[in-house]
Amino acid sequence: MRVAVLNGVNLDVLDRRDPALYGGLSLNQLESKIYDWARELELLAECRQTNSEGEYVGWCHDAFDWAGGVIVNPGAWTHYSYAIRDAVELFNVPVVEVHLSDIEHREEWRKHSVVADLAAARVIGKGPEGYQEALEFLAERRG
Ligand code: DQA
Repeated sequence: MRVAVLNGVNLDVLDRRDPALYGGLSLNQLESKIYDWARELELLAECRQTNSEGEYVGWCHDAFDWAGGVIVNPGAWTHYSYAIRDAVELFNVPVVEVHLSDIEHREEWRKHSVVADLAAARVIGKGPEGYQEALEFLAERRG
């Protein structure tokens, strides 16, 4: 099963962000781990990252045609982008929302996620391993 892993705004500079919050890995290192974890679960991950909201929406539209499961971490868009919410809502396969940091216990504005109610599962504050948990969830749900 192919899994789309869609990382959003500012996740390209993961290694320059607070390691206490984000784990200190570069996006490349994170994506390598995701590919390895997916392989172990006999999933085929396809990782993408963009800082353009329109491109993120486009990738959701694209993944609709091929993904059997989707992992989204829209970064700060999580908290306010109804355009991304509408795009995520189109999926008819399970979507897992992942955040490296614990958005429930940071600034007040990070507590709200516009995609939370669309997600079949949410993995929050578990660092890079959160993506592994998300992949495991999708592997268990595989049809
Ligand atoms: C994030 C949390 C968001 O609040 C933040 O804007 C990010 C990353 C996370 O993975 O912890 O860019 O989605």
